[in-house]
Amino acid sequence: MALRLREKIEQKFDEEIRFFKGWIDKPKRVGAILPTSSVTARRMASVINPQSDLPVLELGPGTGIITKAILERGIPPEKLVSVEFSTDFYHHLLEHFPGVNFINGDAFDIRNTLGETWKDRKFDSVISAIPLLSFPMYRRVQLMEQLLELLPPGRPVIQITYGPVSPVIAWPDRYHIEHFEFVVRNIPPAQLWIYRKA
Ligand SMILES: C[S@@+](CC[C@H](N)C(=O)[O-])C[C@H]1O[C@@H](n2cnc3c(N)ncnc32)[C@H](O)[C@@H]1O
Repeated sequence: MALRLREKIEQKFDEEIRFFKGWIDKPKRVGAILPTSSVTARRMASVINPQSDLPVLELGPGTGIITKAILERGIPPEKLVSVEFSTDFYHHLLEHFPGVNFINGDAFDIRNTLGETWKDRKFDSVISAIPLLSFPMYRRVQLMEQLLELLPPGRPVIQITYGPVSPVIAWPDRYHIEHFEFVVRNIPPAQLWIYRKA
């Protein structure tokens, strides 16, 4: 038991070091200084409907905390498609989550990044940790519209952010915005926002 606890602590430490290294290399791309907490990850994964039988799209998995929560929600690895820009994180993820469809690419070019296999598929939901605040507003809006095209009407894109307001500007004719949760058990405390097609 003590050994398992030690292994868990070592693994968490290893993840934090890896994350911090990514942040030193590319602070704007990584967007946060520490990995997402498991509480936040579980709250984000809670919007998935495992009964829909549709694949789930994850963006910006980083060290894989949210990936783990998605799998624990009951999504089989082969039904998870996860897009990570950093090649370093990507290799780490391939090693730790066998069977998940990781793609080393840019979420802002989502259709090309998804490629022939996935670009015309519908997903149950999108779980995103992309550091949107590092990108101009017009690109955030474009991304949101493209993501909503990949979902059946009414299904959510959930986005984590650290600012006080929605990182994507309101556009009621095109999508609805819902504040889902403020998670205090995250460093820094995180806001979760949900976007759905109008
Ligand atoms: C805030 S971190 C994610 C934290 C992650 N939940 C964790 O705990 O490890 C943001 C992630 O988004 C990735 N990212 C940034 N821009 C991206 C893009 N355009 N496409 C895909 N991934 C991107 C970064 O490489 C980083 O892994």
